Amino acid sequence: MSDITLISGSTLGSAEYVAEHLEEKLNQVGFTTEILHGAELDELKCEGIWLIVTSTHGAGEIPDNLLPLFKQIEQQKVDLSHLKFGAIGLGSKEYDTFCGGIVTADRILQDRGAKRIGDRLEIDVTEHEIPEDPAEVWLENWIILLKND
Ligand SMILES: Cc1cc2nc3c(=O)[nH]c(=O)nc-3n(C[C@H](O)[C@H](O)[C@H](O)COP(=O)(O)O)c2cc1C
Repeated sequence: MSDITLISGSTLGSAEYVAEHLEEKLNQVGFTTEILHGAELDELKCEGIWLIVTSTHGAGEIPDNLLPLFKQIEQQKVDLSHLKFGAIGLGSKEYDTFCGGIVTADRILQDRGAKRIGDRLEIDVTEHEIPEDPAEVWLENWIILLKND
């Protein structure tokens, strides 16, 4: 089993690129990883460490490729008490529902018993043309927190 499973939710690829960039960084410091662009419950082990990177679409919603996973987790009341996770959102402050996708995903995981490591990162893509940059800064601190947890 890999140390960290990166899971992206995306429509046009920005969150996927961020997840891929972070995967490279994690590999460089010795973590083994697996990456899933969109996911369903039967593809995942509900333990260990997940890093969720998702944009927001519609009116504050999780993108379609990640929605099934979160619906399944809620509906099947999955036990996530052995799961730790990191949470990164991409969104635009032009919307009232800024980063609603990661806010919902974070709530669902914690409701099912998962433990979030570190703060949730919410990247405003109108402010950060290269969302990989703030994500990389956040990752450095997340790695320290993971090692100390
Ligand atoms: C139709 C549409 C709806 C969107 N809705 C929201 C929203 O409700 N909240 C938000 O923060 N960003 C919203 N966004 C902005 C996207 O989350 C942002 O552009 C993000 O970088 C897209 O990443 P992706 O290519 O990985 O999907 C929306 C964008 C589009 C095109």
